[in-house]
Amino acid sequence: MSHPSLYPVSATAKARTHITDDIYQEMYRQSVEQPEQFWAEQGKRLDWITPYSKIKDTSFELGKVKVNWFSDGILNASYNCLDRHLASRADQVAFYWEGDEPGVQKTVSYQQLYDQVCALANGMKSLGIKKGDRVTIYLPMIPEAAVALLACARIGAVHSVVFAGFSPDALGNRIVDCDSKLVITSDQALRGNRATHLKDNTDAALGHLGSDSPVQNVIVVKHVGKNIDFHPARDVWYHELVANQSKTCEPEPMNAEDPLFILYTSGSTGKPKGVLHTTGGYLVYAAMTHQYVFDYHDGDIYWCAADVGWVTGHSYIIYGPLANGASSVMFEGVPTYPSVKRIAQIVDKYQVNILYTAPTAIRALMAHGDSPVEGANLSSLKILGSVGEPINPEAWNWYYEKVGSSQCPIVDTWWQTETGGILITPLPGATALKPGSATRPFFGVKPAIVDNEGKLLDGVAEGNLVILDSWPGQMRTLYGDHDRFEQTYFSTYAGMYFTGDGARRDEDGYYWLTGRVDDVLNISGHRLGTAEIESCLVAHDAIAEAAVVGYPHDIKGQGIYVYVTPRVGVEPSEELTKAIRAWVREEISPIATPDLVQWAPSGLPKTRSGKIMRRILRKIAANEHDQLGDISTLADPSVVEILVNNRLNRK
Ligand code: WTA
Repeated sequence: MSHPSLYPVSATAKARTHITDDIYQEMYRQSVEQPEQFWAEQGKRLDWITPYSKIKDTSFELGKVKVNWFSDGILNASYNCLDRHLASRADQVAFYWEGDEPGVQKTVSYQQLYDQVCALANGMKSLGIKKGDRVTIYLPMIPEAAVALLACARIGAVHSVVFAGFSPDALGNRIVDCDSKLVITSDQALRGNRATHLKDNTDAALGHLGSDSPVQNVIVVKHVGKNIDFHPARDVWYHELVANQSKTCEPEPMNAEDPLFILYTSGSTGKPKGVLHTTGGYLVYAAMTHQYVFDYHDGDIYWCAADVGWVTGHSYIIYGPLANGASSVMFEGVPTYPSVKRIAQIVDKYQVNILYTAPTAIRALMAHGDSPVEGANLSSLKILGSVGEPINPEAWNWYYEKVGSSQCPIVDTWWQTETGGILITPLPGATALKPGSATRPFFGVKPAIVDNEGKLLDGVAEGNLVILDSWPGQMRTLYGDHDRFEQTYFSTYAGMYFTGDGARRDEDGYYWLTGRVDDVLNISGHRLGTAEIESCLVAHDAIAEAAVVGYPHDIKGQGIYVYVTPRVGVEPSEELTKAIRAWVREEISPIATPDLVQWAPSGLPKTRSGKIMRRILRKIAANEHDQLGDISTLADPSVVEILVNNRLNRK
């Protein structure tokens, strides 16, 4: 069956929207021509303790990079997400929480969320946490996660959420890097009826750190109710800590440029980077994009099926929706448990109007044909969203037709941890859709395409995606390493923010993201650096050298293909391969588990100066060994033939 390549804006979407195409054109023009006026107006969507008079103070010039927005304004993010809604929404549901197991559920109203946030904020203060202190949050998708983030924001502590799928070592590194005084975790996490022992992991992380551990206390949420080792001098039960706390806590006045959070993400080299976001610009941008991109209206039921451990959870489960007074579904589990019908059942149960999920989830479901949507009433849906990786047209069409009954616009939202919010996206009532294209820039965003020399390409073009000017949600620095921030994002192409993504612009000015152009992998929408996995591999006793590349994977988008050279005297075997996969899984996270492990006893292809030629390894992994290009510059071209002969991804 053939599918249209263009979907005009539907009459229904147009009738309901905040932003028609005319409005988009006019607002976009103003946003880039007169950013000061534009953002001065948009900043009013928040409540400020002291209003701003300065709007934009930014520079992308290497050596002088600065990103300041609303920089004399004073506000509190939790106040904007809670207090200001109480007069009109105290009893409105903030979160419909759906547990891993169907039937396990609860609702949290705005008043309840406020009470819990204040109690935890007071509890944290009683443990000595003050404005500016860092707090690591290692929690499953439970309401306490929202409470923990907002409680930090309330007292001006800087939260650093670590995805609950990360290992003790990954957790420990992130704790040390930002010098966290406090960890908030739970006994266990449940996903698809599988338990992750978060408290045990925390103990292990802190145990490994030993006297290097900056952590003074660990707050433990009793979630699953399993026994844990309790260290009375350090550990505090969440329920005991909050039990006797007052349910009011004055929000800490924060400068717009005071840090709100750090979130670690993978880069192309080195250890994970602590992306730092501040308070005012981030919240303005998260709230505004949430409203316009999802065409959110009061009364809508909104469900972002991401995890709070990633930026999508920060901006579009917590800060954006709550700043807008939204009612959201929060889901603890996975799309395929207890069956592939789970997503549809949740949509039906809560009459979800807006669903935001990832292409990998869609591909996992579409492999089961119609069964994931059969038996559920999905007619409440109005808008569908996609995030995390390029959505292939097959997945787009399945989502559009089967989930959205060909009635719901799909917003394919392109953005990054670094961008704080969505930068390139359709707007439901304004943008005609092309399956696979993230379409047009959001307000205030100036994307461009450059060639490898940094020359700006006009019109229809393909190359590297850069952003030419700042927007309020942009990251401010890498925690503790401003130099690395400048080098990573502003040194590749002078005066521009380099995204690390490739893109094409078509004849309508629409952007098509083509994937990372650096050594960052995107596995099921999760970002992983090849360097991280390589350094984990070479830390294994059996391995002398390792190279990691991505390869096309039907469900995950990209899979992890690993080439390993054994140490002298080590005999590769199936057992050893298993052990290597388990090693990476334990050391980093299950999401980093190699899919394919190819032993390379004769070595890896290198230039004469000793640099591993990843281009060649990528081609072999993609089963495109007939397109290797010139290999004559290699130190030893014969290793290539051996690798090709033993390649693992044969189609
Ligand atoms: C990729 C997730 C194509 C991209 C919000 C980006 C996408 C990286 C899309 C950031 C999309 C995200 N189309 N690619 N709609 N959304 N990406 O930091 O490569 O976890 O650079 O932020 O995901 O991943 P991150």
